[in-house]
Amino acid sequence: MKNIFKASALTLALAVSTQVNAAKFKFSTEIDSSAQTVVVFYSQDGENSQFKTVNTQLNELLAHTIELKDYKGKVGEVLEVIAPKGSQHARIVIVGTGENKALDNATIAKLGGDVHAYLLANKVDSANIIFDDVIGASDNAELSANFAHGANLRDHRFEKYKKEPNTGTIDYVMDVADTTKSRSQYSVLESIQEGVFLARDLTSEVATEMTPVDFANAAKELQSLGVKVTVLGPKELKKLGMGALEAVGRGSQQGARLVVAHYKGSNESPIALVGKGITFDSGGYSIKTGASIARMKSDMAGAAAVLGTVKAMALAKADKNVVAVMGMAANMVSQFAVAPGDVVRTAEGLSVEIVNTDAEGRLVLSDAMWYARKHFRPEIMIDVATLTGSKIRAVGNDYAAVFSDDDTLVSQLTFAGKEVNENLWRLPLGYKDALSSDIADLKNIGSSGPGATTAASFLEHFAGETRWVHIDIAGNALATKGKGEISPGGTGFGVRLLSEWLLNN
Ligand code: BES
Ligand code: MN
Ligand code: ZN
Repeated sequence: MKNIFKASALTLALAVSTQVNAAKFKFSTEIDSSAQTVVVFYSQDGENSQFKTVNTQLNELLAHTIELKDYKGKVGEVLEVIAPKGSQHARIVIVGTGENKALDNATIAKLGGDVHAYLLANKVDSANIIFDDVIGASDNAELSANFAHGANLRDHRFEKYKKEPNTGTIDYVMDVADTTKSRSQYSVLESIQEGVFLARDLTSEVATEMTPVDFANAAKELQSLGVKVTVLGPKELKKLGMGALEAVGRGSQQGARLVVAHYKGSNESPIALVGKGITFDSGGYSIKTGASIARMKSDMAGAAAVLGTVKAMALAKADKNVVAVMGMAANMVSQFAVAPGDVVRTAEGLSVEIVNTDAEGRLVLSDAMWYARKHFRPEIMIDVATLTGSKIRAVGNDYAAVFSDDDTLVSQLTFAGKEVNENLWRLPLGYKDALSSDIADLKNIGSSGPGATTAASFLEHFAGETRWVHIDIAGNALATKGKGEISPGGTGFGVRLLSEWLLNN
């Protein structure tokens, strides 16, 4: 047991963070007696040894405050105690870990995010977090790494348009048993969080600054990590027969792009991640009205998530073969835009009657899925898309909807999602007859059945024999409030889920 108030300030640590203005984490086996604030955990299942130590040193001040304040120690519940003048640390922040002993990584990351937000709001600039003997945590390397991960994710801010960006930052010393173990766990999470940051920034960026060409250029920056990036423009798309993707892009001056980012960290057949990349969804001639149009800069969040995942895998030097295929277009109104009732031909060979130009996501995905299959012969194909309002009505903004006939993949992905607090809920495929058209092979909206399902069933026509999963992330992509490891703006939803799944399967 270590004495928080007497230990030396020796740290053997290494600053590992690369983000400007970001919180900095040092892992140390020693208590940092110079930190202004010390964080200890409080379990309802019994007292952590460090809690006891500080409590004794401060003459029962912690226990006394807990009683007076009626503090329960629920997961994430924070209680701040000001130490008497002259004490080594000015404040002691008590963080509840609840009563069920199940401190899984998702809970810890959330905790890290909320504690970070609390400390920032209270103008704390340095904190020592004591991970020793936390009840409910089997391994304090995993605990400390996921805590730092959550804090870092919460710290990420998109403030380029603000005159006075929030510049607060916190230096953390994480007191752990084995610094090497903590650091190596954290380094994987750091790669993943860089992928999340990329996805968030692409999603948060305003539509006129994040066009299909801007997105393609952002993808090209991954070339320095050994990722092969290919970009196809409208003429090439037409030549290859990708008439659906090309058509959606026709209403904007730049037109559509197909962006491909391939990280080949193994010789196995690839996993294809297909992303919907609508840089702005006005609805087209079936134009959106009122509030529903306001957040549509985020309609490329699926593309952002799959690109972020490729970045994460490349940074982690994972032994995975993964390719992101992103269908990029701005769904706009102009004299060149596709008109309701038009018929387009997909590269798959199926013609589609565009009954509603606002059902554009499935059009860009159909050709992107075809391209992924044709050029990469993937083992598995997963598409990620902000596809339907119907999905939001069915499962809300905290779950993403998953659709597939492949029970194994659904359960693997659902499990991975739980590990990182990106939860999936399965909805049915079906209502296929609802997509039959009088004049074409398919129409792009269902005449009956739930919209999220008919959209998924439309995509199924383009999956061929490939093992395929569709993830609808409408409503998950943009946050209005910070919460847990989420900061306001683009959430990067999907990067952590897909990375977790890729690294463990
Ligand atoms: N991008 C939207 C879906 C969406 C809605 C995402 C709300 C995030 C928040 C998609 O392109 C769309 O407009 N879908 C229509 C389909 C309908 C016309 C069949 C919808 O869900 O209303
Ligand atoms: Mn739409
Ligand atoms: Zn859309």
